[in-house]
Amino acid sequence: MQIANMRTFQILYSRTHFRNLISTKPNLYKTINRFYSISTVYDPVNGCIVTKPVTMSEKSKLSQPESNNHDDGSSNSDYLDALKDDRSYGSVLKSNQGNWSSFGGNSIKKSKSKSTWVCSECGYADGQWWGYCRECKNVNTMKEVVEVDNGGKVSGFQVSEKIVQQSWLPKGKGDDGPLRLTDVNKRVNHSDWRFPLSGLFGDEVSRVLGGGLVPGSLILVGGDPGVGKSTLMLQIAAIIAEGKEIGKPAPVLYVSGEESVEQIGNRADRMDISTDELFLYSSTDLEDILIKAHALCPRALVIDSIQTVHLMGVTGSAGGIYQIKECTAALLRFAKKTNIPVFLIGHVTKSGDIAGPRVLEHIVDAVLYMEGEQHSTHRLLRAFKNRFGSTDELGVFEMSPSGLKALKNPSEIFVSDGYSDSEFLAGLAIAVVMDGSRTFVIEVQALCAAGSSLSRQVNGVQAGRADMIISVLMKQAGLKLQSNAIFLNVVSGATLTETAGDLAVAAAICSSFLEFPIPSNVAFIGEIGLGGELRMVPKMEKRVSTVAKLGYKKCVVPEPAAEMLRGLDFGGIEVLGCRNLKDVINSVFITR
Ligand code: TYD
Ligand code: MG
Repeated sequence: MQIANMRTFQILYSRTHFRNLISTKPNLYKTINRFYSISTVYDPVNGCIVTKPVTMSEKSKLSQPESNNHDDGSSNSDYLDALKDDRSYGSVLKSNQGNWSSFGGNSIKKSKSKSTWVCSECGYADGQWWGYCRECKNVNTMKEVVEVDNGGKVSGFQVSEKIVQQSWLPKGKGDDGPLRLTDVNKRVNHSDWRFPLSGLFGDEVSRVLGGGLVPGSLILVGGDPGVGKSTLMLQIAAIIAEGKEIGKPAPVLYVSGEESVEQIGNRADRMDISTDELFLYSSTDLEDILIKAHALCPRALVIDSIQTVHLMGVTGSAGGIYQIKECTAALLRFAKKTNIPVFLIGHVTKSGDIAGPRVLEHIVDAVLYMEGEQHSTHRLLRAFKNRFGSTDELGVFEMSPSGLKALKNPSEIFVSDGYSDSEFLAGLAIAVVMDGSRTFVIEVQALCAAGSSLSRQVNGVQAGRADMIISVLMKQAGLKLQSNAIFLNVVSGATLTETAGDLAVAAAICSSFLEFPIPSNVAFIGEIGLGGELRMVPKMEKRVSTVAKLGYKKCVVPEPAAEMLRGLDFGGIEVLGCRNLKDVINSVFITR
């Protein structure tokens, strides 16, 4: 205590002396300003601020890791004496106060906090704020993340590493060092490679996952709020827990940071889920969740949602960029080390991306998106990324009062209910498009209104593509569409992304313009070129066989496709080959 008081006196003396020096020698003050900066340090013993000059070299030295080296080669000048005093004060504090070692001599270091600006869209980090992300060019996406280095405090990465390095975790397969491919394959039992999901619903999910659930995989399920992510995951969790395909139930842990266990229980009750092996837990502390998961040793773990969980010791609150990144990294290591598959639910931002840094999508093994129109009960589950299977697959479900149901025959969901009356309605045409390995028939509607205004409104078809088809119809097929307002719509909010739908768009416009209803049992497949010619599209055979199975009687296709399909038996459907749009008009829009 005595030493501390003595030091305090020295500091105060130095400060007064320094002030006198400045007031009597203004030129000296300027010099000081040039070579030294004035630093203020909080004096923890007296509870006041202490001022001191710091040379530029000192300043950089002080920000170096802790050093007790006092021999800085400084001159005998007064202000450096003051500095020396101050630094020795720091060392006293260190020896006397233990925890306060960061104050005093290394006082600048104590407040070492680094601001990084991280883009919320792509995860790009910059040391400086810009109005936009210099990587992805998005505006206003740079968010400040302050990393405080508290000496002993571990960084986020170390935290997430720490929690999966728990002794209870089994040794990972990769811990053996490099292995021969043949040896790896020998020790893998291929029947265990994928966990099958039973039932119609399970089949649908399995297909999207690439043929079943891969042990140790980390799967991110994204979608708009209220689209049905929690419902979907609860149903998947129940199927995995029941394990009907392998005849052996096992625990599955469903963790929610958004709902209480009672609320999840209530939902499960409504959905008629009553498996004994489904465990519910409500928590947001990831370390706690993983410890509970270990104790239960589940067959799968579901986290609802990644934006609500957090790791103690990582900068930021739950949902923040660093938290999301670190939590996902911790879960990835957990999944890989334990071989327990982990599902993460992720919210989607207004722009349709999963909230959080884009890197999230790079970390996980698979990204599934759940889509659905607000006023439709249909839900589509699509693989956006899949390390263990194709990303072409699509699952089709219907949201019912008792949960999601897989659709037995989803091909016709995009055809309007009143289509049977279309014998009397002009402007409707059926397109046959592929999504993954699935074929869908989609109804395209067109309305050509002469006179009124010349506006064009397009829904579900790319505006540029629609413009091109209309221009080709005018120029190559001679349709006088110039004086018409044209409206295009795809039923059920579907979007025609394939050029295979071009012919149906053209047929719908012709039908409306010519006031000639197309019979409801005719489908159109084909791409349109700028010369008005019809072009082949992939998987013609599959498309034609689907419409044949659905009971269509005629399918209009490009001439080369008709030749290719000649001789194949599609069960009574007429495959009509046309070379160009004129051919189509002459063969379809004609009364026999
Ligand atoms: P939910 O799974 O909570 O959506 P998310 O987790 O994506 O936010 O689903 C919410 C919607 O689903 C809600 O609007 C009601 C509807 N729903 C049904 O229609 N039937 C059901 O059996 C359930 C559980 C939900
Ligand atoms: Mg939810």
